[in-house]
Amino acid sequence: MRRKLIAGNWKMNGTAASASDLAAIIAGVGADGAEVLICPPFTLIDRFVQQAKGSPVMIGGQDCHPNPSGAHTGCVAAAMLMDLGASHVIVGHSERRTDQRETDADVRAKAEAAHAAGMVAIICVGESEAERDAGQTLAIVERQLAGSLPAGATAANTVIAYEPVWAIGTGRTPTVADVRAVHAHLRARLGASMGAEGQDVRILYGGSVKATNAAELLAVEDVDGALVGGASLTAAQFLPIVAAAA
Ligand code: PGA
Repeated sequence: MRRKLIAGNWKMNGTAASASDLAAIIAGVGADGAEVLICPPFTLIDRFVQQAKGSPVMIGGQDCHPNPSGAHTGCVAAAMLMDLGASHVIVGHSERRTDQRETDADVRAKAEAAHAAGMVAIICVGESEAERDAGQTLAIVERQLAGSLPAGATAANTVIAYEPVWAIGTGRTPTVADVRAVHAHLRARLGASMGAEGQDVRILYGGSVKATNAAELLAVEDVDGALVGGASLTAAQFLPIVAAAA
């Protein structure tokens, strides 16, 4: 039985004043139901880990460098996130694949670094609008998964997030049938590369998840949670999504 995971990706949002938003989220999350993870910017991880202590809310990073240390100005290693008490790290988000030109090989190296540090890697895949229009969705996510999944991936250290690029921050979502088809395909590919273990890997859906569509999306077979951007920034928008997963 795969327990649902609702992960909030705050992207480049949040300052010290956001402690009140995290406090409201913590106040609304119970020990039962879905696992809840908040990934704030690096600058807030230490503060948020302290604030979330004793609560079921976990704190994660949005990226990490593939190397454990070294001359990489401005970068943060997975071991540094682990050192602060972060448990998860998102790798290969489409915004990084686009803005920082990260390749599947880069993403795999980052996931390996996360595993080496003892963290859970949330590996993102998803097609662009042009790729969807060209009928390439399944081929694209299959290629990204094959290229980004490390050899040492297990159900305990790896989560997959399917995020169609055209659905991120746009208010548009695929149909339930399309989400089901992609998740089923990813499940089959996980089985092909990981064997029985692939059955236990959680596959999140991400892209314009909101209180109004969460229940429908989370009810889809093989949708094991959500990666939520904009709607994760406030308790008012995020908690109904967490509740929809229970
Ligand atoms: P969104 O972002 O929920 O704002 O569409 C999702 C994501 O990029 O993880």
